[in-house]
Amino acid sequence: MTAVSRYPTECWLTPSAEVRPSPIEGLGLFATAEISRGDVVMRLGGRVIDDATLAGLTPPYSSLTVEDGVHLLIDPAHPVRYGNHSCDPNLWHDDSTTVVARRPVMPGEELSLDYATHSGVETWTMSCRCPSALCRGTVTGADWRLARLQSAYGDHWVTPLSRRIGPRRG
Ligand SMILES: C[S@@+](CC[C@H](N)C(=O)[O-])C[C@H]1O[C@@H](n2cnc3c(N)ncnc32)[C@H](O)[C@@H]1O
Repeated sequence: MTAVSRYPTECWLTPSAEVRPSPIEGLGLFATAEISRGDVVMRLGGRVIDDATLAGLTPPYSSLTVEDGVHLLIDPAHPVRYGNHSCDPNLWHDDSTTVVARRPVMPGEELSLDYATHSGVETWTMSCRCPSALCRGTVTGADWRLARLQSAYGDHWVTPLSRRIGPRRG
């Protein structure tokens, strides 16, 4: 019998985006048309892997945590895997596998996510070269603990990180 994943296996990217060289790093995703706040930009899916398999991967790769110790590894051939990180992103998670615009995005803008909102491995770190005034310099899998990020992103984290953060105060 073939095991059926409870998570999406395929990715989808809005037709209003394309891959281009990025000033942040390597290749990135860029809007080719105006995207309104709340529009779905990506649907994420992939192969289910555990912590040990994730720890053995060599960057660049694209993954997200869907449960504590459970991750989806995104198809390296799919364009969504070119999404770069920003510390002030114009996209965020609507749920674990649905990514929407956080604010209106103009044609030509690079599409970005804050990787801390989907990285459930506390020891993961990445030096950041995003141009934002809010750049943290180093992005980590423990950034969900930062009160400023909890306040900035509200409920826009993957489900296991929302659970770690707990109910919103105030
Ligand atoms: C999912 S890939 C993104 C696509 C990548 N730019 C490429 O051309 O393959 C993730 C990798 O991109 C790089 N990256 C993404 N955002 C970055 C940032 N803000 N600063 C520095 N490197 C970044 C890191 O090497 C990271 O491991």
